[in-house]
Amino acid sequence: MDLEKATADEVARHLTGADVVVFAAGAGSGSLVGRKDSVDRGAAILLADAAESAGVGRYLLLSAMGADLRVVDDESLDPVFRTYLRAKLAAESAMRPRSALRATIVRPGLLDDTPGTGRVTLAERTGPGPISRADVAAVLLALLDEPRLTGRTVEVIGGATPIADAVAAHAAH
Ligand SMILES: NC(=O)c1ccc[n+]([C@@H]2O[C@H](COP(=O)([O-])OP(=O)(O)OC[C@H]3O[C@@H](n4cnc5c(N)ncnc54)[C@H](OP(=O)(O)O)[C@@H]3O)[C@@H](O)[C@H]2O)c1
Repeated sequence: MDLEKATADEVARHLTGADVVVFAAGAGSGSLVGRKDSVDRGAAILLADAAESAGVGRYLLLSAMGADLRVVDDESLDPVFRTYLRAKLAAESAMRPRSALRATIVRPGLLDDTPGTGRVTLAERTGPGPISRADVAAVLLALLDEPRLTGRTVEVIGGATPIADAVAAHAAH
């Protein structure tokens, strides 16, 4: 569906019976400030509204490393990139109070299309680094089975720890 045009009710009709939603859309690297707001913030919140009304009990939000106040206030950043990070931060902030969605927020480093390795570094703060889209997808899949990370925000970059172990270790503390 086009999440910049659909209503929450229209999206909700497609979610009936789903156990989880994953927000992985993005305005893309060539887009300007308007679409950072309409996709990276607006569509993530639209999906949350739709998931709540359809009774979906889990939401995985693919955010971005740097979507926190100490970074988005950095005036040396490119203005469009700052707008993107602010949109991601606004989406994160809108998700946290919605306890029925049992959200987990995932902030990956720079994405690339290299083959997945099945290994990552995952922590509250990892520091910057690249990660393949395939490994991010595998992390999202692992999080589906990890209720202990409900309500938590994790950063992830490429690394040396098998994904299931990285998720389980972080969930344990
Ligand atoms: N690229 C990075 O380095 C990076 C780093 C950290 C986090 N992220 C986040 O990770 C996620 C994936 O990033 P990406 O670079 O792989 O992809 P992306 O270019 O940000 O876009 C991913 C998808 O979003 C979809 N999309 C765009 N507008 C939409 C709309 N109005 N309705 C429904 N779907 C829409 C696109 O679908 P169509 O192909 O059908 O248009 C595309 O398949 C995004 O949330 C991004 O913000 C990216």
